[in-house]
Amino acid sequence: MRKINIAIDGFSGCGKSSTAKEVAKRLAYKFIDSGAMYRAVTLYMLQNKVDIKNEAEVLKALDVITIDFRHNPGTGKSETFLNGVCVEEEIRKMYVSESVSPVAAIKAVRVAMVAQQQEMGKHRGVVMDGRDIASVVFPDAELKIFMKASDEARAKRRQMELEEKGEKASLEEIVKNFRERDLQDSTREESPLIQVPEAIVIDTSEMEFEVQVNKVLTLAKEKIEY
Ligand code: CDP
Repeated sequence: MRKINIAIDGFSGCGKSSTAKEVAKRLAYKFIDSGAMYRAVTLYMLQNKVDIKNEAEVLKALDVITIDFRHNPGTGKSETFLNGVCVEEEIRKMYVSESVSPVAAIKAVRVAMVAQQQEMGKHRGVVMDGRDIASVVFPDAELKIFMKASDEARAKRRQMELEEKGEKASLEEIVKNFRERDLQDSTREESPLIQVPEAIVIDTSEMEFEVQVNKVLTLAKEKIEY
């Protein structure tokens, strides 16, 4: 059966990663969380006090950053590694969410990440979620989805995710972060978040998780069997 690439783009916290992960599992495809890569770069910049306004410093940092995803057989989940260290938990914390958009706006950072993402998807059979997947990373993806959700729905879901990991954040704080990132991500010069004309829009505000997964799966199967 032919393999396709599936691009899922959209605003912060509207269920892209969780949907992409489940769709990949059911199709036996590879799931790649491109946001985790920008989060890992941001964590490196913060830990090493890199001045992100200084191009030479950013390039020096990018030279020594290695990001990879490894399967944890214990949890059955994929985890993000930064220079050989598991950073899966750390990169999801609010302080990283608050610093990631300016880092993701840097051209050199995007060039480095996009090259790796394209390499990961070159044999197809990949579900990747992010902001520029349909427009820049895989403009030839067979299926392109654009996800959105109301502020209330996405903030509630993110609050629960953070709580499960032991981090408390108010709904106001979460919404503020989403809005700031959405604005920065969609107005930046380098590959801003856009909805490509051929993308299929899914609004997950009132949708059960299983319904949104099935929706993407149905669309994917139509493309696979085409
Ligand atoms: O999970 P959430 O929606 O909160 O964000 P994420 O997907 O983990 O992405 C974190 C940040 O990385 C975004 O706010 C963007 O600034 C950046 N990002 C990007 O610029 N391009 C991508 N393809 C994915 C993420």
